[in-house]
Amino acid sequence: MVTEYTATARAHSNIAFIKYWGNREPGIRLPANSSLSMNLAALHSTTRVTWSEALAEDSLMINEQPAAPAAFLRVRAHLDTLREELGSTLYADVASKNNFPMGAGIASSASAFAALTVAATIALGLRLPERELSALARRGSGSAARSIPAGFVEWRAGGADKESYAETIASPDYWPLEDVIAVISPDHKHVGSTAGHASANTSILQRARVESAADRLESAKQSVLARDFEALAPVVEEDSNLMHAVMMTSKPSLFYWLPKSLRIMLAVREWRHQGLQVCYTLDAGPNVHCICGAEDAAAVAARVKELDSDIEVIRSSVGGGAQIMNVNDRIG
Ligand code: DP6
Repeated sequence: MVTEYTATARAHSNIAFIKYWGNREPGIRLPANSSLSMNLAALHSTTRVTWSEALAEDSLMINEQPAAPAAFLRVRAHLDTLREELGSTLYADVASKNNFPMGAGIASSASAFAALTVAATIALGLRLPERELSALARRGSGSAARSIPAGFVEWRAGGADKESYAETIASPDYWPLEDVIAVISPDHKHVGSTAGHASANTSILQRARVESAADRLESAKQSVLARDFEALAPVVEEDSNLMHAVMMTSKPSLFYWLPKSLRIMLAVREWRHQGLQVCYTLDAGPNVHCICGAEDAAAVAARVKELDSDIEVIRSSVGGGAQIMNVNDRIG
């Protein structure tokens, strides 16, 4: 009889208010600064992991297709980390599905590595504390550490592997914000985040960004806890602008914005001056995340469409933490 251990988990994507950009120790993704984010209920990855004695190597399907070599190698490296940390010698079949476009600046790696980490550990019968899951997920993709806990999340940089994990600062229903995402381009980004992080220190601005990140994080955190949108908006925009300033001044320089992104960013500031609760933030892609007070989200979505009817809009409320969907679920 062949022994197999299977579990399925789901994790949500997240959008950072205070960004993770650059690593102190790239090999284990020990970040240069702490970061703060909100999980996105509408965007998730669902991942099934089957560890089996019958397998002679790992395999990966993404959205029901065999994964591209780069994606496979990255997942295999994470499975190696998990084998080492969890004391297993088994190989795994991994099947993952995203309900949103990959590589569009919506962090598919965050939800994917969070779901993979939870499914892989649960399948082996290990119910690890949230902190340990978060630190393990971080090794696969830094932002995945923030997709383990629920709601509004702080990832403390920490000084060592086990100290670098994320925790909830407020539950999903604490403040009904929405992310109205203007999807400018669903294409894969030209330079992925991992390569981008590696070049962060080539910008003379990175040191200034990192040194001042803790103050912005504290200010953003207090604004979330006080549900104070007026205080949150400028710090979220400043932090995004600073990260993009680092990107643009790295060697070689990285431009993730497109003309359409800037048009929306300027419009968002105008809408806020007109009284709407909205601010923008951009990750390593051209899409503009319009963070909105829930009451203004429909109006913001409509205004983005008015600016350019070709732009697809995805709306998301605040999401929960990574969850187990099934254990020992033999499928196929
Ligand atoms: C711009 O977590 O995608 O979205 O650790 O190499 O997988 P890897 O990088 P990733 O970086 C996210 C960068 C960001 C900002 C953020 O989400 O904090």
